[in-house]
Amino acid sequence: MASSKALLGAIFIASFYFPASIAFPAHHEGAHPVGHSPKPKLGLSPDFYISTCPQADEIVVSVLKKAIAKEQRIAASLLRLLFHDCFVQGCDASVLLDDSKADASEKNAIPNKNSLRGFEVIDEIKAALEEACPHTVSCADTVALAARGSTVLSGGPYWELPLGRRDSKTAYMKLANKNLPPPNATLHRLIKFFERQGLDKVDLVALSGSHTIGMARCVSFKQRLYNQHRDNKPDMTLEKRFYYTLASVCPRTGGDNNISPLDFVSPSKFDNSYYKLILEGKGLLNSDQVLWTGKDQKIADLVRSYAENESLFFEHYVNSIIKMGNRNPLLGHDGEIRKNCRRVNQVL
Ligand code: HEM
Repeated sequence: MASSKALLGAIFIASFYFPASIAFPAHHEGAHPVGHSPKPKLGLSPDFYISTCPQADEIVVSVLKKAIAKEQRIAASLLRLLFHDCFVQGCDASVLLDDSKADASEKNAIPNKNSLRGFEVIDEIKAALEEACPHTVSCADTVALAARGSTVLSGGPYWELPLGRRDSKTAYMKLANKNLPPPNATLHRLIKFFERQGLDKVDLVALSGSHTIGMARCVSFKQRLYNQHRDNKPDMTLEKRFYYTLASVCPRTGGDNNISPLDFVSPSKFDNSYYKLILEGKGLLNSDQVLWTGKDQKIADLVRSYAENESLFFEHYVNSIIKMGNRNPLLGHDGEIRKNCRRVNQVL
């Protein structure tokens, strides 16, 4: 009981710790352009909409500000959408398609069902974009812009975002089950999942830092509490008091949808406290903690460096998220610009 109070207290304090003026800087004010961005993939360019919809980013950010003022967590949910889009056949907004006669939606894949959020905010952004610049800004770029805006509005780094992705005409439900890493993955498997996307160990550690914001359901970390190695015992790498706090939110039976912050020190601030917590045995997911305990020296060194040096984390994060965002985009005449992100355009 006392520990559940401690957790609630942490959430409560954190929500006041970052007053609106810090949490919602004016557009790009307080943003940190850091690092040297990798060259955009041929065909994508930060200036893609400069003549066709120069106000696109402003529109995205203004809807985001309202949505985040209503619910801070939505920033995390929108950032995660980009990851779940890009790891499944590239960043093509396939994740946004609802079930249709032709296709099973990725939204019902195991890593997404009852978990992935933010679709209504994407709808709202897209509607505003359609009104200002009809049939111009793709849903895939909308997701990428929303992820960048959410990061910046949470206090994280700004990056020059290559644009010009087009939207898929199909969803890839099976691939979503195959390509998205589960939270109980070993470090070895996490490395493999990232390699499959052309991403390396630095990308794995830097992008995992996205868990500096947002929440996870009990079902995503329950195995660690009660049956880590299928032996009815907890994960011994969990710090003891943190274990009791989590157990109070996530009982052995039931409570699967109870939520806990991924970074309980500052769950809505994009900072490096995620890495500091990992050094203390307070990473929430197995996939977080194994970055430190998984016996890979290079990876453990990166965790320590990011814990000690937030600017280095931001610099690597920017490089890695651009790299992830450039995964296999549809270009030129491939795909389409969807009017409604939930369904493919009607063939007339
Ligand atoms: C390294 C492998 C990763 C694994 C195994 C993983 C797994 C998860 C899981 C299980 C959750 C909680 C879902 C739930 O319980 O409903 C989560 C949340 C989240 N993930 Fe990851 N993730 C990974 C990498 C990433 C990456 C690369 C990003 C972004 C670039 C990301 C962004 C997020 C965010 C922001 C949340 C919080 C979402 C919210 O509060 O709605 N994750 N992740």
